[in-house]
Amino acid sequence: MSRKPLIAGNWKMNYGIGEAVVLAQEISNLCESDYLDNVDVVVVPPFVDLKAVFGVFEFDKCEIRVGAQNCYHKFAGAYTGEVSIPMIAEAGCRYAIVGHSERREIFGEDSAMINDKVKALLEWECGRVKPILCVGEPLTVRDSGTYLDYISKQIKAALAGVDIVDGDQLIVAYEPIWAIGTGRTATPDQAEEVIGEIRDLIEDLFGQQVADKLRIVYGGSMNEGNAADLLSKPNIDGGLIGGASLKANSFVDIIRIAQDYAK
Ligand code: PGA
Repeated sequence: MSRKPLIAGNWKMNYGIGEAVVLAQEISNLCESDYLDNVDVVVVPPFVDLKAVFGVFEFDKCEIRVGAQNCYHKFAGAYTGEVSIPMIAEAGCRYAIVGHSERREIFGEDSAMINDKVKALLEWECGRVKPILCVGEPLTVRDSGTYLDYISKQIKAALAGVDIVDGDQLIVAYEPIWAIGTGRTATPDQAEEVIGEIRDLIEDLFGQQVADKLRIVYGGSMNEGNAADLLSKPNIDGGLIGGASLKANSFVDIIRIAQDYAK
């Protein structure tokens, strides 16, 4: 069983079309094709940039994929302000982030909404757009020592009623909230502990084959300085990168480092 590392850059609410195209072009120029043989790379810009960023990689015949930061679970209709899975797919997306802590905390997404989104993604066109399901505990939960239980509940709620038969159907991202955008990265041992537990839980829920194949990545102040230590852990299959993905050099450095850590 081998798991190809996955490195995804979450641009969050940064850059309009002009700047997004410049950054995508820089990433495409710096990213050597053999990096992409060894690492799955996803760029996740704001919705309005998707088509243009996809176009840069398509024109360059560069195998970098594009993902969306969110989506709605209904496929069309009177849902002002929402964006559907068919729409993001048409804009070039192969992935969609679901349940990011900023969506949970700032926009009130609850576990039922996240479960709806995961189900809709897995169902639509046989899962053509793959969920990157984010979980992670706040600092109070970390300090109370109950974080493994907290993460397990998040995973079970997000995957309730879902049948995963192939570990390639989704990606899980462990992102401790206290490490996001704070510069306070989880230590490799802290990240490995939780990600190993998530893999055990996936095995309980969906069996060993799925658990062996499913990629579980780490997110939270990951950068080119700490990537090697995190990625060298046996269960950490890549990264969901925020701040460091906004600089082409840093992002591509992380991709280059990830090449050495297929599992
Ligand atoms: P960060 O963000 O790398 O800036 O901490 C990670 C994320 O929120 O996905």
